[in-house]
Amino acid sequence: MCGIVGCIGNRSVTPIIVESLKRLEYRGYDSAGIATLNGAEIDITKTAGKISDLENILSLTNDACVGIGHTRWATHGIPSSTNAHPHTDCSGSFAVVHNGIIENFQALKDELTSKGHIFSSDTDTEVLAHLCEDCYNGDLEHAVREALLRVEGSYAIAVISDNEPEVIIAARKDSPLIVGLGDGENFLASDIPAIRKYTNKIIYIDDGEIVRLTRDNVTISTLQGVNVEKTVTIADGSIQDAERGGYEHFMLKEIHEQPKALRETMEDRLCELEGSIDFKELRLLEDEIKNIESITIIACGTSYHAGILGKYALEDLLRIPVKVEYSSEFRYNNFLSGKRSLAICISQSGETADTLAAMNEAKSQGYLTLAITNVVGSTITRKADEILLTKSGIEIGVAATKTFTAQILTLYMFGVYVARLKKLIDVETSRNIITSMKAVPGLIESLLDNISNIEKTSSRICEADCCYFIGRGLSYPIALEGALKMKEISYIKAEGFPAGELKHGPLALITADTPVIAIVPKGKTYYKTLGNIKEVKARNAFVIAIANASDDEIVKYVDSVIKIPDVDELFSPMLAAVALQLLAYYAAKYLGAEIDQPRNLAKSVTVE
Ligand code: F6R
Repeated sequence: MCGIVGCIGNRSVTPIIVESLKRLEYRGYDSAGIATLNGAEIDITKTAGKISDLENILSLTNDACVGIGHTRWATHGIPSSTNAHPHTDCSGSFAVVHNGIIENFQALKDELTSKGHIFSSDTDTEVLAHLCEDCYNGDLEHAVREALLRVEGSYAIAVISDNEPEVIIAARKDSPLIVGLGDGENFLASDIPAIRKYTNKIIYIDDGEIVRLTRDNVTISTLQGVNVEKTVTIADGSIQDAERGGYEHFMLKEIHEQPKALRETMEDRLCELEGSIDFKELRLLEDEIKNIESITIIACGTSYHAGILGKYALEDLLRIPVKVEYSSEFRYNNFLSGKRSLAICISQSGETADTLAAMNEAKSQGYLTLAITNVVGSTITRKADEILLTKSGIEIGVAATKTFTAQILTLYMFGVYVARLKKLIDVETSRNIITSMKAVPGLIESLLDNISNIEKTSSRICEADCCYFIGRGLSYPIALEGALKMKEISYIKAEGFPAGELKHGPLALITADTPVIAIVPKGKTYYKTLGNIKEVKARNAFVIAIANASDDEIVKYVDSVIKIPDVDELFSPMLAAVALQLLAYYAAKYLGAEIDQPRNLAKSVTVE
């Protein structure tokens, strides 16, 4: 996690770095800092807290034209101004910002301490500054290179030194880093939106590469010193995508963007008449995909919940075994893949370290790997055998919303695509699925037009210490997701269960007035879930049902109903998910929580 930024030009960089850090704040927001160089010496300002806290103590009149900045999600050492980046060496001549983890930092720290270096923070990063000091022989790039050859772990770093005030050196291994090319100025950052305001000319830095940035020039070489020619990419997406656009929070904006995100994810891919899905990007792999005999879906958090839905849909359509694994657990499994196994790795950010590590493991076990991600150019897109993009636009709120429903859609599209390749479903069946699929964005729009009831219901949940989400079949992963959304942004204790499992233990948690949110759309599991609702009602729980608009019966069995539009059963999870995102959003708002930046979390989890 953490976000880094750097800028070298002919104007004051402090406001640019602050602005860029604000756009990276979703990556970590427990402390922040900036180092600038005005030719003679390095000036550092850092603090615990958010970028706004940093801004309050910064001198925005500082006219330095070279600088680096950092927003932190603590791994080594508590969030404090001492542990905030940039970190410096003993002499204060080298300043470093870092995203990643230096795994052998303790051994390096012991060695450097025995040589007389004095450390002032608890971080792993500080060893990099001291290593640069130790390796410096009059060439900053050489010192960074030498330092990096000694470290194990992951990093995206930027280094400045008052010995060479006209250069920034940066490097990457397993943490994202891009360079932005300007006119008489150049930038680097953890992602494109951070610097999109200043340039759209982007170079993606790859693992093992080191960058030398001056005002007028950018050179890239490997850690071993071999020059590398890179392609300049023109970034799409407007700057407004990263603005709140009149909404109080990014999360609310992103919930409302779901119809658009889904339409764009479907665009040019649905062939309703032919009853087929056109994934042009998969054409070269068609034969391999046609012969797949098993699938493992690998993901974390919300993406994992999309994966469970994918399992249900893919098993149903393809009649082959589909497993879902947490990325962080995948490597501890002792099974081997079959010869014709596909690993679908889902990560909206494309940077989640656990998922990247699991994907590497899957590759080494012989899986064909397919990534589903929302971020063009992210690490996963460059490591997977093939990719399917969700086209949700940038998601800033830490709680995933529009990317979740787009992941479900993409998994469903993939299911229909493979089922047609394998000739497992006929044209009419797939045409019907596609027709229902196309209707989903419009149905979400009508749900979003009637949210006052959801807002009102959320206040009832806020009165409780805990709440439970239940569902069966396709509604079970939505119960998990509803609970995750609730706990991560409102901090109300929330758990999701398969409705049928309640009586095997969790029922003991239900006391009078405990809110139980039951996802009970019409379909295969309706009556069984109704039975489970009766069980919790018999224990005096306060039951809120997420039910179809045409379900006039449900009101007899529950205390409150949130209606979602009628839709083919396969797609009701997408509508229920939107309702539950809103429920969590309004509960969190009612409690005054920091919705877009919940405590202890970050959007991109780039550490394992
Ligand atoms: C929760 C949330 C997280 C992410 C998880 C994986 O709202 O956003 O649980 O889903 O950290 O992130 P990606 O999909 O970027 O790999």
